[in-house]
Amino acid sequence: MRQYGILAYPAAHSRSPLMHNAAFKAMNIDAYYGVFEKKPEELEAFMREVLERPIDGLSVSLPYKESILKYLDQVEPAVQKIGAVNTVVNKEGKLYGFNTDWIGSNRALIEVVGDLTEKIVVILGAGGAARAVAYGALLAGAHVWIKNRTKEKADAIAVEFAEFFSTQIHSVPLGEMRTGDILINTTSGWTNGMEDWKEEMIADYINLDYLANYQAVMDIVYTPLITPLLETASEIGVNIITGDKMLLYQACEQFKLWTGEDAPLEVMSKALEAV
Ligand code: ATR
Repeated sequence: MRQYGILAYPAAHSRSPLMHNAAFKAMNIDAYYGVFEKKPEELEAFMREVLERPIDGLSVSLPYKESILKYLDQVEPAVQKIGAVNTVVNKEGKLYGFNTDWIGSNRALIEVVGDLTEKIVVILGAGGAARAVAYGALLAGAHVWIKNRTKEKADAIAVEFAEFFSTQIHSVPLGEMRTGDILINTTSGWTNGMEDWKEEMIADYINLDYLANYQAVMDIVYTPLITPLLETASEIGVNIITGDKMLLYQACEQFKLWTGEDAPLEVMSKALEAV
């Protein structure tokens, strides 16, 4: 039986096992997807275990998307640019790193807004997730504005990515509003109370008058599914894209990397909905 799983800390509440085990079952693949909840000090020993057992593939989540890099034999170009890995394939004792997050975000966006060419995508946040989303948007021909609490991090992404793409990427200072076609929240700070969120959001990140002009708003956070940002966008009639879509589509790509087969999308989507 082939063995896969999620490497994260914490990992207990991950929805990935449900999706992948449902997919293996539906496709008659003799494989099991488990949970590898490892503390940072356990990472090195665990990576040895991956080779020795062996474990055939991993989904990689926080906080290991960057620190796993040094254990890998080879990474794809997307990983080099994004600087983060979310998928590992163990092929005959060699570990290969991939990033399917940007494919997940592009697919979730394109499904609702269509072709991204020349669209203006405004990204809130400048962490690992923002880098993946920005990479995908630029690759699909969109222009990107990136805005973050710590502006230096947004500046750094803009400078770095501007080298690789013909479309534009710029950072925007907090408090400065930009109109755009698609707004994407990748920050983890505004998911709790509606009141907390409104105060902070409206002040620095997004003004409701601007929000109304967007074609779609996506939040990559999926607990809760309808975040305060999405609730507000939906109230004023803007299309919303929930974070479970990116989660689903990045998982479909992982499945394909591990098995060589197209993922059973409906099965995985139903498994995710059942949570
Ligand atoms: P991820 O891989 O999910 O992107 P990360 O790399 O830790 O995680 O990035 C978290 C992002 O959320 C950052 O953009 C962070 O802003 P800073 O760079 O200024 O730290 C943002 N973030 C986290 N909590 C926030 C809050 N309360 N308000 C605004 N931004 C927040």
